[in-house]
Formats: sequence, structure tokens, C-alpha cells
Amino acid sequence: MKGASHPTNDVTLSQSSVPSIRDVIDTVETSRRQFVKTGLSATALASAGGLTLGGLVNTVEAAPVPASLGFPGMGFESVPANTRALNASLGGSASSTVDRITVPTGYTAQVFVSWGDAIMPGGTAFTGTAAETAAQQAKQFGMHNDGMHFFPFSGTTGAPLNDRGLLAVNNEYTHEEILFPDGQVGSGYTLAKTRKSQAAHGVSVVEARRVNGKWSVVKNSLYGRRITANTLARISGPAAGHALMKSKAFTITDGASVPTGGLLDGFTAYGTINNCAHGITPWGTYLTCEENFNGNFGGTGAVDTSATTEIGKLNRRYGLSAGGFGYRWHTTDPRFDLTTNPNEPNLFGWVVEIDPYNPRSVPVKRTALGRIKHESAQYVVDSQNHIAFYMGDDERNEYIYKFVCSGKFNPTNRAANRDLLDSGVLYVARFDSNLSGQWLALQPDTIGVNGVALRDNPNFAGANDAEVLAKILVKTRMAADAVGATSMDRPEWTGARPRINGFDEVEVYCTLTNNSRRGGAVTASTPASNAIDGSTPAATANPPVDAANPRANNAYGHIIRWRETGKSVTATTFSWDLFAQAGDTLTTKTPNATNDFKGNIVDTPNGSADYGAPDGLWFDYFGRLWVQTDQVGDGSGDFINIGGNVMVCADPNTGETRRFLTAPNKCEVTGVTMTPDGKTMFVGVQHPGEDATAANPTAFSNWPQNQWSVEADGVTALPAGRPRSSVVVITKDDGGIIGS
Ligand code: FEO
Ligand code: CA
Ligand code: CA
Repeated sequence: MKGASHPTNDVTLSQSSVPSIRDVIDTVETSRRQFVKTGLSATALASAGGLTLGGLVNTVEAAPVPASLGFPGMGFESVPANTRALNASLGGSASSTVDRITVPTGYTAQVFVSWGDAIMPGGTAFTGTAAETAAQQAKQFGMHNDGMHFFPFSGTTGAPLNDRGLLAVNNEYTHEEILFPDGQVGSGYTLAKTRKSQAAHGVSVVEARRVNGKWSVVKNSLYGRRITANTLARISGPAAGHALMKSKAFTITDGASVPTGGLLDGFTAYGTINNCAHGITPWGTYLTCEENFNGNFGGTGAVDTSATTEIGKLNRRYGLSAGGFGYRWHTTDPRFDLTTNPNEPNLFGWVVEIDPYNPRSVPVKRTALGRIKHESAQYVVDSQNHIAFYMGDDERNEYIYKFVCSGKFNPTNRAANRDLLDSGVLYVARFDSNLSGQWLALQPDTIGVNGVALRDNPNFAGANDAEVLAKILVKTRMAADAVGATSMDRPEWTGARPRINGFDEVEVYCTLTNNSRRGGAVTASTPASNAIDGSTPAATANPPVDAANPRANNAYGHIIRWRETGKSVTATTFSWDLFAQAGDTLTTKTPNATNDFKGNIVDTPNGSADYGAPDGLWFDYFGRLWVQTDQVGDGSGDFINIGGNVMVCADPNTGETRRFLTAPNKCEVTGVTMTPDGKTMFVGVQHPGEDATAANPTAFSNWPQNQWSVEADGVTALPAGRPRSSVVVITKDDGGIIGS
């Protein structure tokens, strides 16, 4: 995300529906029985897709990740950097990059789904002018897609299919100038605009099918689903029900958000927003991670940012303010008004579990995993079937976490795993200078660096340890401050290396995208670390360089990795190193004491796969590491030689890196997944042409319709008029595995 405004209304919401909310897995089981009992949906789908009813039932049990195969290396050559010079050489502007996707020789990319495409029954085709209402947007693919995962259906034998499945995709934020025909305020700002913006946030579940070699969206799929800022969710885990989780209750319709006069019960939230990257579970559910939730709030009056009050400290530490990121939701929807509804932000910043196979399942906010600006949540199951989720908090000088479930993963009984995300221990990482590290438990009895147990720290004081833990989780950043975690250079995605080909370690990677505050001048208002009392406003510290974050004003970012002691996810110690420091081999910038700006990316010839600002990170099923970038998107400044954003592929053994994909002008590459056989890859392109205004939406990009006249189905025309965040589908022309 880079835009200034970074960050479903077909159902009328009210508290009356709350008592029916059950665990996500419970809902699956109930709904599956309904599918089978009525036969209607299942039969219709089966006849349409050539599946048996048994096959459909099996889809619910399908493991989302296939058995891993061997690492076959990289069989493609790097594509050239998408520089301004390249664009000029092609007859384009010398102040932008080439406005298209490029993949290696022997590969084909096609646009698969774009903002505004119909994805469910009743959905309407994109107008091209953004004339859609909120209700229409709520049945279309959301805006500014980010993390995603392909969940295969199963065939009649129960084996996962490679030509049919569900793509669960986050829709992180909206760009209001492109979202509305007249921009955010052209003819005035209204609740209708707020509702459309809310409907473009969240998650899209898209049914994907390949017929005669062509992938397409099943536009009227019964599995198609939108989960938005107005989709009821359940809150579970240790913080559920706490007073801090009780915000104002509303009756929410397209026409108004009317306070009921009461409070929510602490087990209910009205929706999810700022869904950045993601995770999955080995029991076949999707995890959507709420990141920059603070930006969507504002204040119609005073907003408490006191360093001494409970809400004031929360607002400081999580970056809430009267203006937010410039969204105006709070001016029309009092739910997002910090002045009158100060607890509402506490209902965001969580990992949310969704069952994509069941369109009726209720999203569940799993509070045990902590409240931060969640980027992603990568799981690892170790040889003892202990399971942990690794997570970054993406803001300058925030931390890396892991959550270790109390219970073990049961690979043979799906229902036995349904509560695993509700109890366990949340840890935060301290990276020491000797390439070792400590996982610091965020528990009531943990002694902080000031010698005081968290239960005796005023920030977390409670009637009992259950309440202390609830407060630790709502105020996760403040608990991490208290125990002395290591401030990192913006932790983005985590990724776990598969244990295949003789590699048998729990080894996890995390992108550290950049940090303009590393090594900056220390003053009273820009301290050297986040204060242990949790009072430091978000992203105001200027920590010195350290071993894990070695470059001052880290413009290009790096990738850190660690191995758990004893190959166990329950370990409290680990070893670590830096996998790569990104940079520009050809840079003419003057080196300084901590930074040559060239980095150490391993590529041949040297410089052929340079990149900056690593963000997306994912190991495929064959052990290849894919890295996606979120740097300046137009090849300017520090990126004049590197060009626009990319996806590279790397060998975790040698570090060898090749550039697989370059992307359109002023976009970010984020989100990657494959079919189980590795022969189809889906890649996300977010916010092409960002910074455009409503007066000239195509000022910087007219992608994807400037690259293709029709969608991947080969039939549906792409409407012109404005750039659209999209998912592209990539196949190898010889039918082989992507990257091979
Ligand atoms: Fe939404 Fe940190 O990327
Ligand atoms: Ca290099
Ligand atoms: Ca990201």
C-alpha cells in the first residue's frame, strides 16, 4: 500500500443475528449438512461442474496445500528491469515505466479478475465509469487486492483439482479518486460514498475454473462471496468479551448507521477492513490480516491522544487521529467516529479466520494472535504436530511475533482443530547481536525490562490473569514494548521454507521492507526506542542501527530469516541471519557508514535481478522463494536503475535470484499463489496508476485494458476508463511448473 487513503450491504445488520453466531467450523458442519440436505446448491454445482455430490462434500475436507515435491531450480532467464529508460526506448514517456506486465519467455500472463468484476449471483459487470452503487460493489470483486490463496476443490477421488477452486483474495484499501466517478468530494461527500468504500474493502472469494486451457471467473458462483466492512464477524479468544472490546451497537443499513443506545457484547464486530496479507491453516481455512485499520477512523471532535489515559495511549500507540488517512467515513458513519465511539478501533487489528468453502460461514476474529497492524500469518507444523503462526507488525520500528497453539494440530480430524487459534502463547522476537534470538512470551507473569511483571504493569492491570491477558492482547504493541522486543524495519510477510529434499529445519523468513527512521536523530519526541510504558506514538522512534537492522535510513530493505532451536515451533530461542539485503548494483549514491546501497542480491550477471522494498514473500510447494516488492512504482529516485515493482524468484540454498515479473506503472506487486500442481500461478497487481485524480484517472496507468482487450476467458471485453487492481493468471506455454 502506498496511497494516501491506504488503508456488505446486501444484508441489514442488527444485533438480533448475534446469538446464532457460532464457531467457524461449527458453521461449516451445519452448512455442509444443509448443502447435502437440500441438495439444491450442491446439485446445481455438481451438474455444472461435472462433480459428484461426494466430491463436493470432499472439498470441505480438502487440504489446501499439496504434498511438496522436489526443488527443481529455476529454468527461466530474468526479464529486464522496467525502467523509465526502457519506456522511453519503446516510445513512451521518460517519466514513467512501461505500463504492462512482463513475464519470461515461454510464459503467458492474462488478467484474471479485476476490481469491479461480478463474482457472485446478482453481480453486475463493471461499468468502466465506477458508477456502481454500494450494493453493486458488494457483489463485485473489491478494490486494491493483496494477499490470496487458491483453495482447490476436490474431484470424485478426493484428490485436489488443478482446474477448479476458490481464490480467496484480500481487498486491502480503496483509492477514493478512482472509486467514485467524481472522486472523493467532487460533488460532495455522502454516506453512499462511505458505503461503497466500505463495500470495496475486505475479502473476495472467487470461484476459478479452467476450461479448454482458459481460466475464468465463475461470475455467478454460489461460492462467490464478499466479506466487507459491514459483514458481521464473531470475536473469539482471550480478549473476547472484555470491556475494551465493547463498542457502540448500531443498526446498519445502506441509509444510516443508527446507534441502538447500547453496546456490543464484546463478542461481535461489524466487519473487517485493511485486509493486507494473509495466511492459511492446515485445516483448510483462510486467515485475513487487518493492517492499517487506524487510517479509516477519524474524529468529528476531540480525539483522546493523552499519554496517560487508557484510550489515549491506545490511540497514540496504534496511530489513531482525528484526520486518519483522509477517509471521510467518520463524517457520515458514526461507527468510525473516534470522538463518540472510542472503543471501535479495538475491534480491528486482528487475524480473522474465514472458511472459504462455506459461503455462509461467519468470519472469526482470533484475539489470541494479538492486535497489531497484521501483515501476514504463516503457519508451521513441526514434527511433533505443534503448530505456530509467524506474524509481522508493519510499521516503522514494530516487531515480529509468533503464536504457538496450546493444542496440537490433528491432521486426521478437522473438527478437532477448530479451537486451536483460541488458546496458546503469543511471543515477540528479540534479535540479539550474536545471531541468536529470544522469543519473549506476552503473558501475565512475564517480567518486563523494568523488572515488573506484566500483570503488575498499569497498562494491563486486571481483576485476574484472564483480564490481564485480554489487555495484553488488545494492547499487544505495548506489551512488546514492556518486554524489550527488537524494533524492526517494517516487518511485512513471513514465509516458511518447506521441509523437503533433505532440508529439515523450522526456518522462517520475513521481509523488512524499509525504514526511513532507522538511525535518525534522537530527540525527546523521536526517542531511540519505543518507551517501555507503551506511550510512544506509532512510528516516531528513531532507533539506532543494530545487527538485525544494519542500515541507517534503510531505503531498499532486507530479508531476515531464523531457525527454531531443536526444530520445534515451541522453542523460545532461535538462530538468525540476513538472507538478502536489497539494493541497486549500479547505484551512484555515495556510500555511508552503514550502507553501500548496492545490497548483496545474488544474481548473474550482477545487477540483473536487483529489487527494493521486499514485501510479499512466499515459498511455493517446490521450495522456491518468491519475493514481491512495494517500492516507488514509477522507477524514480533510488529506483532509476531497478525500475518499477517486480516479483523475483530465489533459491533459499544459494540466494541466487532471478526477476520473474515486472509490473505496470505506479503499482505494487502483492499476492501470489498456485494450483496444487504448480502449473498455474495467480499474482496480484495493486493500485496501478496510483495518485491519479478523478479528473484524469488514467494519468499514470490504463492497465489492464491497455495490455489485453479481453479477460482470460478470451471473450469478455475489458472496459476502458480507469486503472484497476487485478489478479493475473500465469501459465507456462509448455504446460510445465511455474518457475521450472
Ligand atoms: Fe499492506 Fe504492509 O502492506
Ligand atoms: Ca546483485
Ligand atoms: Ca504488504
